[in-house]
Amino acid sequence: MLSGIQPTADSFHFGNYLGALRQWVALQDDHDAFYCVVDLHAITVEYEPKALRERTRRSAAQLLAAGIDPERSTLFVQSQVPEHAQLAWALSCITGMGEASRMTQFKDKTAKGGADRATVGLFTYPILQAADILIYQADRVPVGEDQRQHVELTRDLAQRFNHRFGKTFRLPEAHIVKATAKIFDLQDPTAKMSKSSSSPAGIIDLLDEPKASAKKIRSAVTDSGRDVVFDVENKPGVANLLTIYSALTGRKISELEDEYAGRGYGDFKKDLADVVVEFVTPFREKALSYLDDPAQLDAILAAGAERARAVTAPTLAKVYDRLGFVPGP
Ligand code: TYM
Repeated sequence: MLSGIQPTADSFHFGNYLGALRQWVALQDDHDAFYCVVDLHAITVEYEPKALRERTRRSAAQLLAAGIDPERSTLFVQSQVPEHAQLAWALSCITGMGEASRMTQFKDKTAKGGADRATVGLFTYPILQAADILIYQADRVPVGEDQRQHVELTRDLAQRFNHRFGKTFRLPEAHIVKATAKIFDLQDPTAKMSKSSSSPAGIIDLLDEPKASAKKIRSAVTDSGRDVVFDVENKPGVANLLTIYSALTGRKISELEDEYAGRGYGDFKKDLADVVVEFVTPFREKALSYLDDPAQLDAILAAGAERARAVTAPTLAKVYDRLGFVPGP
């Protein structure tokens, strides 16, 4: 199993956590799990080199705080395992321009500035993602709904490579938990919760001050009416809050609907704010304490990269052989 996450500027948000990271933690017990912070992907858009190092460490600290155990999982930084980029090159040579052009994430990310201003790296981003997955022979890729298309492309490329050069890769499947596959923006509950969303009030960051997160929940957009019912079509705001409530407490949505029947949105949002505070307070403390010791963080990541390379180097050697390259030193 493999998954990756971008080193976002300040903090991961609830979409990342509920859509993906929770599954990463749950799956690490009975799977051979590889989890990486994808710093190579992070440089496909404008960024500050100094800040990137900090972002990468902050990301690792949050993964540890979320419960990724570096003894049970291999936790590493993508740039420290060179076989990802090496395989990406080979895969780019079997990817069609048209096929790459159909990736919706690229289209979304360039919708504002126009594709002319985007980098070639952003365009080939999904090919590097395919390499991340295939270099581990991963069967499952725990992600949110927005990554489904990239995993589909990965399967297509694996199949094409196998067909052309002989069976080399396993075909991976996206592991998407339906209930939390897409967490929505609190201010615009028809849009995905995302860093690029228009208002910070719509996003709950895991490292936000707990009080600020509580306030965001209390001021989340709810729908007309006053019944707390799960109705995605007509009450997307309430449905999103119910999803978050249920995921954080493990309580069924129907049970929550019963509990708040006839009590209106106020009580419901106040209680959910408490649930959120209870979750983010220890999370934040743990993450910040990991950040106090960057040397220890770096050592955990370096050990992870070494373990990862033990898997990726033989796979790449096999790929190079299949491609017809002369064996090296
Ligand atoms: P990224 O960094 O945008 O997001 C990390 C994970 O969080 C999930 N996610 C969400 N899930 C539910 N609701 C949301 N609102 C929400 N927002 C984000 C994403 O689906 C993802 O699982 N391209 C990837 C990173 C990547 C990767 C990989 C993933 C690089 N290589 C290999 C899997 C395998 C990305 O940008 O995720």
